[in-house]
Parts: sequence; structure tokens; C-alpha cells
Amino acid sequence: MARLTINGKTTEVNVNPSTPLLWAIREQVGLTGTKYGCGVAQCGACTVHIDGKAVRSCIMPVAAAEGKQITTIEGLASGGTLHKVQQAWIEYQVPQCGYCQAGMIMAVAALLKDKPKPTDADIDGTITNICRCGTFQQVREAIHAAAKA
Ligand code: FES
Ligand code: FES
Repeated sequence: MARLTINGKTTEVNVNPSTPLLWAIREQVGLTGTKYGCGVAQCGACTVHIDGKAVRSCIMPVAAAEGKQITTIEGLASGGTLHKVQQAWIEYQVPQCGYCQAGMIMAVAALLKDKPKPTDADIDGTITNICRCGTFQQVREAIHAAAKA
């Protein structure tokens, strides 16, 4: 058993403490916006925020997330208003298949919190998520747009 606070709501999950957080979020709590891609911290599809920082949930044990504020893509909008990154994603029509995009958006939202006006070098150094559809150019444009919003 572990107690997780996800998107402001505390839930008990019945998993081994070493279970990756990703599986607790998806299979126990039923929030399936966070995706499984590689399982080895390479692709970023599973990115969530832990206490405001972007974390790849496929390699974080549930035990390490207890007592922390976990935010998933389902909790990024606030009070019915989309986060500015989500708004820019719509405006710039970033997603193609969409599979990587929840993780991409979570990584970008964390970047903009740390660096409100990121340079291309900041983006290249921080947004290492992999998109098999090749949306990288649209991602970059939408990040700059969100930074101006
Ligand atoms: S599934 Fe976590 S980084 Fe790929
Ligand atoms: S939009 Fe298809 S993998 Fe990124």
C-alpha cells in the first residue's frame, strides 16, 4: 500500500513500493494520459511533475513519490482553463499521433516554470523527449509562443 497525492487528490494504491509510479498512475488510479514508451527513462512519454519538477515516472518507484505533489496531464489545466502550453499546442497544431504529447507538454510546462523565456539552447538541453512523428519544429515554435503568452 502507498498513499499518493495526484492532482491534489490523495489515493491509496495497492502496489509493491518498488512498482514504477507510471503503473500506479495508469493501472491503479486510472489516469491514462501519462504514457508508456520505453520504460527506461529515454523517451519522456511518461513525464509527470513531482513537486513541480519534470520526472520520468517509468523509473520512479512509488515509494519515492509518497508525500509529494504529483501532477499528471489531467491536472495541468486549472479551473477549466488550459495551461498556456496546452493552448499553444492547439494554436500551433503540434500533435500528430499524439502519443508522446502528454509527456512533451509536461516537460515543457516544467521548463517554462524554471525558465520563462527559454532559448533554443535551453529547449535543446531540456526537452529531450522523443517524438516518432517528428513534431520537434512545431514543439519549438509552440514553446516560444507559450513563453510570450
Ligand atoms: S516510458 Fe518513461 S521515459 Fe520512456
Ligand atoms: S506526435 Fe506521434 S509520437 Fe509524437
